[in-house]
Amino acid sequence: MEVIIQPTPEEAARLVARIVAHDLRANPHLVLGLATGVTMERVYRHLVRMHQDEKLDFSLCSTFNLDEYVGLFPSDQNSYRHYMDHNLFRHVNVDPRNTHLPNGLAHDLEAECRAYEALIQRFGGIDLQLLGIGKAGHIGFNEPLSALRSRTRVKALTPTTLKQNAALFGGEDHVPRRAITMGVGTILECRRCILLATGDSKAEVVAKAVEGPITSMISATTLQLHPRCSVVVDEEAAANLKEKDYYRWIFENEPEWEGYR
Ligand code: GLP
Repeated sequence: MEVIIQPTPEEAARLVARIVAHDLRANPHLVLGLATGVTMERVYRHLVRMHQDEKLDFSLCSTFNLDEYVGLFPSDQNSYRHYMDHNLFRHVNVDPRNTHLPNGLAHDLEAECRAYEALIQRFGGIDLQLLGIGKAGHIGFNEPLSALRSRTRVKALTPTTLKQNAALFGGEDHVPRRAITMGVGTILECRRCILLATGDSKAEVVAKAVEGPITSMISATTLQLHPRCSVVVDEEAAANLKEKDYYRWIFENEPEWEGYR
């Protein structure tokens, strides 16, 4: 795992967008894993700008989102399908037929989860997966005790997550209690993972995820098992990390990051 510390949330998001753009230019058929949440909105703004100003081309790529609430219509303002359309898809030239999210309205949710896994396989697996992190340390909706080898499945949301999302839904009672999410095992199979976390509210959980012991209580810690994972943070989210000087040295000196400095 590598940790990249950027001065501000804006610069952290821009770096993530530049990594996506680099990989997309290198492979126009990129299979891109996407995440939702407030943190990712900045990344999508940069990608939209790159599409408009630099002709970043999404026409051949395919996307797979990490998760979707159970029971929300795609047109619902709080569905992740709506979030993706609103923040990215409708502003770039991605083929809507190549954008995938789990269907939280499926009659048979288990079959839907199996089909989602099969579809990812059919596309040859995910090349680059973007990840946010919940305040309690989940990636996707892999809540505490998510098995380290779990696959796409329905997961009940914890009280912490329900609280965290309450404002968006106009109160905790309106937040769906369940979601379909890629499993930890699904995420660990992606060829490259980039986790973005910004702001002081994420400082504690970032330190646990990066420097703490691996535990199913905090699914982000499992990224320590991933052979190619970068964690991009701003100064505030980096506040509780112990090895900041080491991380800064790597970003300033390793050839891999030369084009991004
Ligand atoms: C939700 C999503 C996660 C995301 C998290 C953080 O729980 N399912 O994938 O990482 O929100 O969101 P935010 O960036 O708003 O803090």
